[in-house]
Amino acid sequence: MQVFVNEKAIKNRIEYLKAKGKTIGFVPTMGALHEGHISLVRESKKMCDITVVSIFVNPVQFDNKDDLKKYPRTIESDKIKLKKAGVDILFFPTEDVIYPPGLDTGVNLDLEGLDEKWEGAFRPGHFAGVVRVVKRLLDIVEPDCLFMGQKDFQQFTIIKMMLEKLDIPVRLIVVPIFREKDGLAMSSRNVRLSPDFRQKSTVLYKMLKYAKKHFNDKEIEQIENYALEQIKSAGLKPEYFKIVDTKTLEPVKNGTADTDAVAIVAAWAGDVRLIDNMIL
Ligand code: PAJ
Repeated sequence: MQVFVNEKAIKNRIEYLKAKGKTIGFVPTMGALHEGHISLVRESKKMCDITVVSIFVNPVQFDNKDDLKKYPRTIESDKIKLKKAGVDILFFPTEDVIYPPGLDTGVNLDLEGLDEKWEGAFRPGHFAGVVRVVKRLLDIVEPDCLFMGQKDFQQFTIIKMMLEKLDIPVRLIVVPIFREKDGLAMSSRNVRLSPDFRQKSTVLYKMLKYAKKHFNDKEIEQIENYALEQIKSAGLKPEYFKIVDTKTLEPVKNGTADTDAVAIVAAWAGDVRLIDNMIL
């Protein structure tokens, strides 16, 4: 596995590989890698000749300074996992490489309100930061395929809109959520859960399954309220549990069985914020 820190060096390498006819798959991450990330790598390896992974804890997408400070950083064990998974190139840039002083990396884009609801409402500025870094990374790596997780449903929905609106010639592949045995969605933040909250957090998966089971035989509001109550009684603090349209992320109303719906949830388990979702 080759490791690149600088823009020019990785660009040259990728240009060389492309000239040889190789296809490039790209998996952007913030590190603290787990099996969920590796499942994205596996998809990329299946579909592309060369797999590039980036690790960059992007400061501009953190609305909460404490979360940024506490975000796990485990570069040495990450490298071992990526090598084992057969990754060809690791891009591990510094902040100066991604946001060089003097370069305007801002992305001016109307996200049609997609960035303002749910995660956007609870984490102001978060998606502007995600769009900015993903655009910058795509400009550097110029991959054929971009691999993102369903785990961050709103994130890939927004990136999909960005690719369409900016006419970026990249194929977006969304990879299903990778879960622990008891259903908890894998997340870099899970390592910060106390054993007690780790156990309690399984309520999120249980309630998503409940929503899927009863989507056609109960009122939506009834499902959402029941889930919120159960999450609270398990000792977590829910921010939202909503059944929404998979494309617009607008709440689904009863009697619209034709719309594709997804249940989305965010909750605090102690001082760790967790998100999850399930397509219904
Ligand atoms: P990060 O949280 O490290 O996630 C990197 C990618 O892994 C994202 O596409 C995410 O959806 C996916 N992922 C995380 N957990 C997963 C799981 N349990 N199953 C499947 N895929 C999973 O998301 C980000 O980083 C950042 O916002 C980023 C896109 C890199 C921009 O900074």
